[in-house]
Formats: sequence, structure tokens, C-alpha cells
Amino acid sequence: AFGDHTSIVVFGASGDLAKKKTFPALFGLYREGQLPANVNIIGYARSKLSTEEIRERIVDNLKLKNDKAKAKVDGFLKLISYVSGPYDQPEGFQKLNEAMNEYESKNQVSKPERLFYLALPPSVFTTVGSNIKTYAYPPKEGRLRIIVEKPFGHDLESSRKLQEDLAPLFTEEELYRIDHYLGKEMVKNLLVLRFGNEFLNAAWNNKHISSIQISFKEAFGTEGRGGYFDEIGIIRDVMQNHILQVLTLLTMERPTSFDPEAIRDEKVKVLKAFSELSKDDVLLGQYTKSEDGSKPGYLDDETVKNDSKCVTYAAIGVQIHNERWDGVPIVLRAGKALDESKVEIRIQFKPVAKGMFKEIQRNELVIRIQPDEAVYMKINSKIPGISTETSLTDLDLTYSKRYSEDFWIPEAYEALIRDCYLGNHSNFVRDDELDVSWALFTPLLNYIESDDFPKPEGYAYGSKGPKGLRQFLEKHNYAFSQEG
Ligand code: BG6
Repeated sequence: AFGDHTSIVVFGASGDLAKKKTFPALFGLYREGQLPANVNIIGYARSKLSTEEIRERIVDNLKLKNDKAKAKVDGFLKLISYVSGPYDQPEGFQKLNEAMNEYESKNQVSKPERLFYLALPPSVFTTVGSNIKTYAYPPKEGRLRIIVEKPFGHDLESSRKLQEDLAPLFTEEELYRIDHYLGKEMVKNLLVLRFGNEFLNAAWNNKHISSIQISFKEAFGTEGRGGYFDEIGIIRDVMQNHILQVLTLLTMERPTSFDPEAIRDEKVKVLKAFSELSKDDVLLGQYTKSEDGSKPGYLDDETVKNDSKCVTYAAIGVQIHNERWDGVPIVLRAGKALDESKVEIRIQFKPVAKGMFKEIQRNELVIRIQPDEAVYMKINSKIPGISTETSLTDLDLTYSKRYSEDFWIPEAYEALIRDCYLGNHSNFVRDDELDVSWALFTPLLNYIESDDFPKPEGYAYGSKGPKGLRQFLEKHNYAFSQEG
């Protein structure tokens, strides 16, 4: 782990990501005593700001829910200083280096530790990386860690290019590629649920499971991010990374230990067993105005091209051709501007033999990632009392019912920055993993962005998604329960 006298530099300190995620996460860790009391935090950006100004901006975005948080703010802000400078010139990096040197010599640090967080667009990763390497690399036998944020490329080719450009600058050991879904509590729980419970472990295969679904729903559109989103689309935005990560953890084989490389080796292996995504096994949509006309359609966004075919909803059939999963239909779904915000996994089991029962429903395991984490299993049980009928009911682990409100569950970014501080790569994306995931999605993305793709199906803002959804799911073995 990094020690008490680490410098943490946040590049893009005045940008959105830093304000909304990075600084609040650093504060959360500090508040919970997970960051050393003397750590040195430096914000870096182009804007000329005083230390006071950057502190004010940061504090505006901190959620101070209770007295404990309020009591910690001043101490936290005192740790933060600011350096302004360009991203493509040495001068700012030299200033930064001096500031870190000063801190290190004042504290008699013999092996400097420096953690750089690039809350920046990938177009500047390489320039900034190379300036860090030349002007701000920890001296003596110091150590460096660098966190980068998605998107890691636009397709297989550009992702490889980015990796090639970064490779001479930093070792894989030094690089931490964030996919914030890997920091979510329930996602971190997946391997424990699967491999720590024999009844699940034993049934986790094509003999017992009839379908798997992972769905990501957001109840809002691209609001204000249209220009960015139009180049990206829902598949790149959340599927190639967040949702695929969840599926990978759900389907990989048992790693020999929780060692980061053991886990990531297994992830890569299962990804290689995925079959090519077929353009004939997808449902693609773009949202239109809400039914009552109060919410805009995607194309009403002024920052979006008038005739944009950008996909804001995708359901994709996936198949894994290995012994465990062959024949199990898997559907990944993700969409903006839907009826609710929710991310969950649904695993349906095969029906039991009918004989004794006239009608009996299948088991279903639901793992809700957000909001309100929960794991529940739908099981058949006799209706209590004199009845001999069965009913489908829940074995229910809903976190808000089980754990008190004071129980600290770190936010995704808190968990991941802490992991990086500890030097644990388990929940970060390895280069070969990135490569396979792009290889999987690139042909489909090429098709969607070609003239051969007619256009996505419309669905109303606030609806459940494109009309064809029910049929698509049924085709993939999904059995609807009474509630639909
Ligand atoms: C980001 C996407 O990576 O993840 C956003 O760019 C999306 O479009 C977000 O809204 C979802 O993250 P969360 O943690 O809010 O579910």
C-alpha cells in the first residue's frame, strides 16, 4: 500500500468528473479514516484559480449528510492545493513536481509515492502521461500509480493505439483503468455469492439455468450530453464496459484465489469463449418524445445531428460456447429515457418436473445492483395454513432491511481509489481484457455505423423500451411472470 505521505494529483480538477466524483470520493475516504491524515492532494487544471477558489468549488459538491461529515470538511480542504498549467507544455508539470518535492522533503519521505488521477478526456492521456513521465515521475526509488477513465478507445483499433501509446510510458502494474461498475458493492459481491454458496455454485450452469439477463435502465435521456453521446451511443457508453464486466464476473470460472491476476485471467478466458455478436440478434432503439409530450425526444437535443441514427437503447443476445454455458440464452439490455432507473441481473432456472404439480413457476434469482442493493430468490412454497396450493415467494436479502443506515458502503469511486491506494488491481481493467471486449463489440458497432443499418426503432421517453422487446426476450427463453 501507499503510505502516509503520498501525493495525489487530480488532473482536470476543475472539470465535471473531478468535481462530481473524484474529490467527493477522496473526501469520503478521508471522512472514514481511509486516507492518511497527512496526504498531499493537488488539483491541476488549465484554469487560473487560487487554492481558495478550488477549495470552494470542491466543497460545493460534497454531500455533508451528518455531523461527522461536517466536522471533517475543514481538515480535508486543508490537504488540498492547486497548480494551474497547460496539459501539453512542461511548465505546469515542473511546478507540480516542485510542489511534490517540497512536500516530500518537508516530511522526509525517502521513497516518494505519487498517485495521478487523470479526470481528463482520452485525447490528452498520452500527452499528459508523457509529461508526467518526464517531469513529475517520483524520484529516487519512488513509486507511481496512474488512474485513467474510460472511454479507452472507440473501437478495437483505437483502443490498441491508446494502449500502444501508453505502454512505453507506464507499466501495466502502474496503470489503473477505472470501470466504476467494478467498484459497486453488489458487483464486488458477485464472486462471493457464486463461489461462496454451494447451492448456487452447483446450479450455475446450462443444466439448471434457462436464461440470464442483465439490464441497465436510466429514467433520463442524454440531457445536456447529446453532443458527447452522439459519437458514442449506448453500446460504447455502458455495454462494452459496465454491463460486460458484470456478465464476465457472472460467467467466469472459479479463480484459484482473490489474487488480481487470478481473477483477471479467468475473466479473459471466458470472454474468449463468447461467440461473435450477431446483427440479427439485437434490438436497437432511439427514444422519441414522451407520450404526454413533456419530455424531449433524442433528436430534439440541439447538440445532436438531425438525422442521427445513434442508438440509445440496445438489447443484445450473447452466447458463450463453453461447457458451462453452451445453450443458455443471455441478454444484455441498456437504455436511456426509460420508465425507471435500475440495474439488475435476473437468472431464471429451468422448470422442475411437472408430475406432482399442475402448475409451478420456475425459480428466479435477482441481484439488484442499484438502487437499493438486494439479492432475492423466488422460490415456491406452500401457502401457509390449510391450503395445499403453492405460491412463488422471496428469500430476500435487501440491504436496507438487513444493514443499518450507518453502515458505510463505499461509493464506487471511493472503493476504487482505495483499491488503487492499496495497490490492488482486482477491480481494474487489464489490457488484454480490454482488447477482447473491443474485439467482441467492434463488428457490431461497425454495422450500426454503416449505411446498411436502417435506423433504430423509436420508443417513447419514459416507456419500457422498443415495442419488440417482449418478443425479443421471449425468444431468449425469458419467462414472464404474472407481473410482466
Ligand atoms: C457512465 C456513462 O459511465 O455511467 C453514463 O457514461 C451513465 O452515461 C453512467 O449514466 C451510469 O453510472 P451509474 O453509476 O450512475 O449507474
